[in-house]
Amino acid sequence: MQSAPQALARVYVTRRVPPDGLRILRQSGQVQFELWDSDDPVPRKELLKRVEGVEGLLCVLTEKIDSEVLEAAGPNLKVVSTMSVGYDHLSLPELKKRGIRVGYTPDVLTDAVAELTVALLLATSRRLIEAVEEAKTGGWGTWRTMWLCGYELNQSTVGIMGLGRIGVAIAERLKPFGVKRFIYTDVAPRTELASKIQAEYVTMDELARESDFLAVCCALTPETQGICNHSLFSKMKKTAVFINTSRGPVVNQEDLYEALSSGQIAAAGLDVTTPEPLPPDHPLFKLKNCVILPHIASASYTTRNSMSALAANNLLAGLKGEPMPKELKL
Ligand code: DGY
Repeated sequence: MQSAPQALARVYVTRRVPPDGLRILRQSGQVQFELWDSDDPVPRKELLKRVEGVEGLLCVLTEKIDSEVLEAAGPNLKVVSTMSVGYDHLSLPELKKRGIRVGYTPDVLTDAVAELTVALLLATSRRLIEAVEEAKTGGWGTWRTMWLCGYELNQSTVGIMGLGRIGVAIAERLKPFGVKRFIYTDVAPRTELASKIQAEYVTMDELARESDFLAVCCALTPETQGICNHSLFSKMKKTAVFINTSRGPVVNQEDLYEALSSGQIAAAGLDVTTPEPLPPDHPLFKLKNCVILPHIASASYTTRNSMSALAANNLLAGLKGEPMPKELKL
């Protein structure tokens, strides 16, 4: 006797994710998925309606997956898979309480994020955006001795706030520029990772005081929210360059504005802000010494496809009750 065909698991995908992930879902023969087929976020009301009864949810970082969404989904929901390494948009205690497994996408974006961080650091420290603007708009007069001077990496100290895979990858890329010393902070020393880049564990105070370039690489948690504030900026060198490619809320933006506009620090490069998008009339956009990118650290074709493929594979494995390629331990 033939066994009855298994019903396909219902899945909701909250965004038009890159093709590799969608192909994996389609070809799996395991799920039927509904897609919010847009580059813009699904409206909250729509999300709450669409998740009703699903077994799996594939989301991106703009969707807040909290108790309201989980209630709306109901008891069938087994897996939430986010196409991101960051997971501050997921209510982990609520997911844990309901026994819902969570997949995320570390590793595959490390290189792209590190590369962009280096690009942003150089654009900020060597004033590339200002320079292009001057060249285009008639500010380019004769060659001048001190015009558009910036700060170089050679012989510098680079501080990393939160040493993980990305921090190491940034340091590896910066080393050939002649960096003299890498220092880092974290909740505890990360000896194995640090040994790859000969980085020294220091206190937050030392990080602030000694860094010529300070790159924020930590995850957003209740402990790191607002950690880059007046207290930190006021201890930094006046020549220091501050770079954030982690999450906007780790920075107190009013304090950063103050530090940049008063000359407390030299410059900042931000790939992440609060809110996102940052309104075009935001005071930070008015500062020449602040370079702001629209959260593009992982935005290479290869990486975004790898992220969507990993998110799809996490989802499928989770739905089958198998180990996920990258599961977040709750
Ligand atoms: C992430 O994955 O969390 C990044 O911020 C976007 O790629």
